Amino acid sequence: MKIGRAIWYLTFHTVYGLVKYLPMLGGDVARWAVLKLFLRRIEGWVWFRDNVTIWFPEGVSIGSGSMVGENCFLDGFSGLTIGRNVLVAHNASLIAEDHGFATRKIPIRRQPKTVGPILVGDDVWIGCGARVLKGVTIGQGAIVAAGAVVTTDVIPYSIVGGVPARMLAMRPDDTEADPAELADAALRRHA
Ligand SMILES: CC(C)(COP(=O)(O)OP(=O)(O)OC[C@H]1O[C@@H](n2cnc3c(N)ncnc32)[C@H](O)[C@@H]1OP(=O)(O)O)[C@@H](O)C(=O)NCCC(=O)NCCS
Repeated sequence: MKIGRAIWYLTFHTVYGLVKYLPMLGGDVARWAVLKLFLRRIEGWVWFRDNVTIWFPEGVSIGSGSMVGENCFLDGFSGLTIGRNVLVAHNASLIAEDHGFATRKIPIRRQPKTVGPILVGDDVWIGCGARVLKGVTIGQGAIVAAGAVVTTDVIPYSIVGGVPARMLAMRPDDTEADPAELADAALRRHA
């Protein structure tokens, strides 16, 4: 690792370490202010609750209105993009890298990593203790059940759970317009 990068990481972990465990709203504001300086992008206000660990913050983007709960783990090694109004419940981990293990001749910790960015769409709810692994895209409005291990993409508005995560259900679709309301609107337009 280049010396400049090493100093940058050291600065991040030292400064963020000062605010990482502060409680309540005051802590949330202090963390937001520090992380705004170091993450790839924070759009608007985002709640970072206490004891959120962040590796490779330069790869992490997060949209406005989102919340990252207590004790979560975010890893931006190969890119972690979280949309708007996303809830990441306490103790969840989003990890955009794996250790390589192609050969038995070299210790796993020395093998090249395998990577893949994680994308989390708007309005996703990731339940407590869930694990989202490298290369996964979670579609808008989806729900990841508590304790799930997500290894493959999740389609929008689905609910997934289990280890590995499988689809449990689709969220009900209440977005269809009521035909009576459409007819009323058409009549009003032509009145
Ligand atoms: C995913 C979740 C929202 C589903 O809620 P629900 O629709 O009320 O779920 P139900 O209890 O009716 O269960 C529906 C099915 O999903 C299964 N299921 C529910 N939660 C599950 C989980 N965490 N892992 C695996 N399967 C789960 C149930 O066993 C049931 O399966 P079945 O139909 O075969 O019997 C909820 O179980 C959950 O995990 N919530 C997260 C809570 C959390 O993290 N809160 C933090 C606050 S931000």
